[in-house]
Amino acid sequence: MPMSKIVVLFTLFHVVCLHSGIMLGNADGGGARKPYIVYMGELPEDRSSASLSGIHHTLLSDVIGDEIIAKNSKIHSYGRSFNGFVARLLPHEAELLSGKEGIVSVFPSKKRKLLTTRSWDFIGMPVNVRRNLQSESNIIIGLLDTGVWPDSPSFNDEGFGPPPAKWNGKCVKGVNFTGCNNKLIGAQPFDLANSVPQNETTPLDTDGHGTHTASTAAGISVKHASLYGIAKGTARGGAPSARIASYKVCWGSGCEDMDILAAYDAAIADGVDVVSVSLGGITLNYLEDSVAIGSFHAMEKGILTVCAGGNSGPYLWTVQNVAPWILTVAASSIDRKFVTDVKLGNGKMLTGTSLNTFSPKKRLYPLINGARARNTSSSVTGNYSACDYETLLASKVKGKIVYCQGSGGNVVVDALGAIGTIMSDDTFEDTMFINDDPLSYVSTKDGLKIDKYINSTRSPQGVIYKSRTTKTTAPFVASFSSRGPQDLSHHILKRYENRQIQHNIRNFNGLPSCFGSAAYVKSFRPKWSPAAIKSALMTTAKAMKGTPLGAELSSGSGNVNPTAALHPGLIYDIDTEAYISFLCKEGYNNSAISLITGNKKYNCANVPRGKGDDGLNYPSVYMQLKKNQTDISAVFYRTVTNVGDRKTVYKAKVESPKGLSITVIPDILKFDENNEKKAFKVSLRGRFLDNETWYLSGSLEWSDSKHNVRSPILVYRETNN
Ligand SMILES: *[C@@H]1O[C@H](CO)[C@@H](O)[C@H](O)[C@H]1NC(C)=O
Ligand SMILES: *[C@@H]1O[C@H](CO)[C@@H](O)[C@H](O)[C@H]1NC(C)=O
Ligand SMILES: *[C@@H]1O[C@H](CO)[C@@H](O)[C@H](O)[C@H]1NC(C)=O
Ligand SMILES: *[C@@H]1O[C@H](CO)[C@@H](O)[C@H](O)[C@H]1NC(C)=O
Ligand SMILES: *[C@@H]1O[C@H](CO)[C@@H](O)[C@H](O)[C@H]1NC(C)=O
Ligand SMILES: *[C@@H]1O[C@H](CO)[C@@H](O)[C@H](O)[C@H]1NC(C)=O
Ligand SMILES: *[C@@H]1O[C@H](CO)[C@@H](O)[C@H](O)[C@H]1NC(C)=O
Ligand SMILES: *[C@@H]1O[C@H](CO)[C@@H](O)[C@H](O)[C@H]1NC(C)=O
Repeated sequence: MPMSKIVVLFTLFHVVCLHSGIMLGNADGGGARKPYIVYMGELPEDRSSASLSGIHHTLLSDVIGDEIIAKNSKIHSYGRSFNGFVARLLPHEAELLSGKEGIVSVFPSKKRKLLTTRSWDFIGMPVNVRRNLQSESNIIIGLLDTGVWPDSPSFNDEGFGPPPAKWNGKCVKGVNFTGCNNKLIGAQPFDLANSVPQNETTPLDTDGHGTHTASTAAGISVKHASLYGIAKGTARGGAPSARIASYKVCWGSGCEDMDILAAYDAAIADGVDVVSVSLGGITLNYLEDSVAIGSFHAMEKGILTVCAGGNSGPYLWTVQNVAPWILTVAASSIDRKFVTDVKLGNGKMLTGTSLNTFSPKKRLYPLINGARARNTSSSVTGNYSACDYETLLASKVKGKIVYCQGSGGNVVVDALGAIGTIMSDDTFEDTMFINDDPLSYVSTKDGLKIDKYINSTRSPQGVIYKSRTTKTTAPFVASFSSRGPQDLSHHILKRYENRQIQHNIRNFNGLPSCFGSAAYVKSFRPKWSPAAIKSALMTTAKAMKGTPLGAELSSGSGNVNPTAALHPGLIYDIDTEAYISFLCKEGYNNSAISLITGNKKYNCANVPRGKGDDGLNYPSVYMQLKKNQTDISAVFYRTVTNVGDRKTVYKAKVESPKGLSITVIPDILKFDENNEKKAFKVSLRGRFLDNETWYLSGSLEWSDSKHNVRSPILVYRETNN
């Protein structure tokens, strides 16, 4: 498939990533019993564990026959936040079970891969950002990941009071795990597959991924001047006052669906406010997907799931099937790699990676490295070669392309007026993120060549070309895949942690991830629904500047802007009821939906369907045409809620590409009250003018004098390739 299809994902889901990836270990079992998840929806009235276990056992003995085998086959009963269980089954037993009353779905527990974390490093939030510390410290971020390393300075609890009263979770003891505190308030391992010996089960992060994720989301500010020899650097997460609860679901070989659901079952009941999941997995069916199921029950309780850092799956449909109650952040591709060539003034061509959307306007630009741009004042102590914060002189950097060692210099040099950055990093090749300026990562080997060239000439020059794509041969390497737990030690973890901290310091804007942002917004707006928070993050995202790769990026994609998200002006809210009518519309039947909702008499026929072509009050508009369709004709109904000024008037501003006409009725919305709702409709009319075009993208922006509430609009046509 062409690269450009992947790019659409950015547009379509805006700040939304794809919840997709590669699944492992899905071989069809011949004779051996395999773990299956039996999902049973909402908890019944009698939710005592004895009663639930009894029901689960009865179901198992019904289909297995043999009491003893039935008893031994059960691995685990869920039951704190939703109903269901895990059992070792033969395929025909699974089939039999799925037809039983009370069961929504039966599906094999598969392994998911961790997603690399690099992709969400692009979100900025200034250090002195206004914070609601009081309420932020009541926010609990639950992370489903590789566990946590409690000794990281990011989890120092100095100044934190006891955990919020609502906290109902645990800190489980384990090998080498030194325990929790008032910052890291919970840590639990979930290993239903017994992938490590039971006496070695521990919530400890032996990989580094979970620790990085947690500190990015909610690490405290850490001043590392003395620790790491970097002056005035501050590493901190998106919501540094928030508490962290770690749920370890990933072990050496991957992250099991059954563990993910067990963690959700716990986290919802434990009282977390935001759940972060950075795991891959292709969603074909919401009711056979552990993250979709877990996040649905979380959403019902007002808990937003953020899927951090995704990889665009190899197929477009993986994206369209992302559960709409999840907030996802766009990222990179699996079978495609974006390569970004760099040319030096001496004619040498080097190939780096990045997603650079800018075409150079000149043949060559002035080029400099950190060493030559350094501030030579004796009190500057940071790593200038890596372009650390406050080590360079703006006067030397301005208008130039800057070469920085390592992976973090771009944020600093961008802020100083550089027009592009070349960085050297061998570790992050598989992940991409979008930068505001031209950017390329070269290997450290090529980095050395660039450095040498710069040193060798009086006026070094260079240029960064727009990215092109190549097919990758190596499919995708998760950050942990090359290291089993057995060869991991504190030593490796420390190195990882160390590097990450330095990295954070260089990115003085901090690297809060999307869920840090969600937690941040939640701390100011505790009553907002998950959909409202998602809407706020989406409609206030910063549009990309410049001429991106394919016009589809220009109108649709953007970087999350958490501070703006506090004041979105209008929100597109969606309640549980609306998600359920969405499920009706997606074709799930009454019996399944009755079980999910716990409402025995649920009847999709009686449910007021969301009107219009998608039926969901989504903060973006997306329409898909068949391959041979050319005519576009659709109506979308939306309702916005006023969360800005009490009395205000919004006007609709529409951008539409050639061939597509976008009409908004009414195009003026007058509000007199807070939380007042106004409905409008968006009509799309037009046609694809040629056979080559496969998407048309535009946007709708509601503006009063203060707020701009922006929604991307995309019409996509299926293509052959
Ligand atoms: C615990 O720490 C010791 C010493 O660093 C190490 O040898 C051992 O492998 C660790 N065990 C686990 C399960 O991490
Ligand atoms: C766990 O048990 C195994 C086998 O009994 C033993 O070899 C191993 O050292 C134990 N691990 C720990 C951390 O106690
Ligand atoms: C160089 O660093 C010193 C010490 O931090 C600082 O006072 C000075 O303003 C810096 N110079 C420039 C031009 O930024
Ligand atoms: C500066 O940072 C780069 C990239 O991380 C690293 O390779 C280099 O060793 C550092 N230099 C010093 C003096 O710490
Ligand atoms: C380039 O010069 C800087 C000092 O200006 C030095 O630190 C660096 O090692 C040199 N790089 C190479 C590759 O020689
Ligand atoms: C409802 O759908 C499920 C599959 O999602 C199917 O197994 C079940 O038989 C259906 N029930 C009815 C009453 O159609
Ligand atoms: C368009 O494609 C669909 C199936 O993809 C087919 O059923 C239909 O006949 C096609 N229409 C035309 C006009 O080719
Ligand atoms: C578009 O494709 C159709 C059928 O595939 C073909 O008949 C038609 O000539 C094509 N039009 C253009 C402008 O290429």
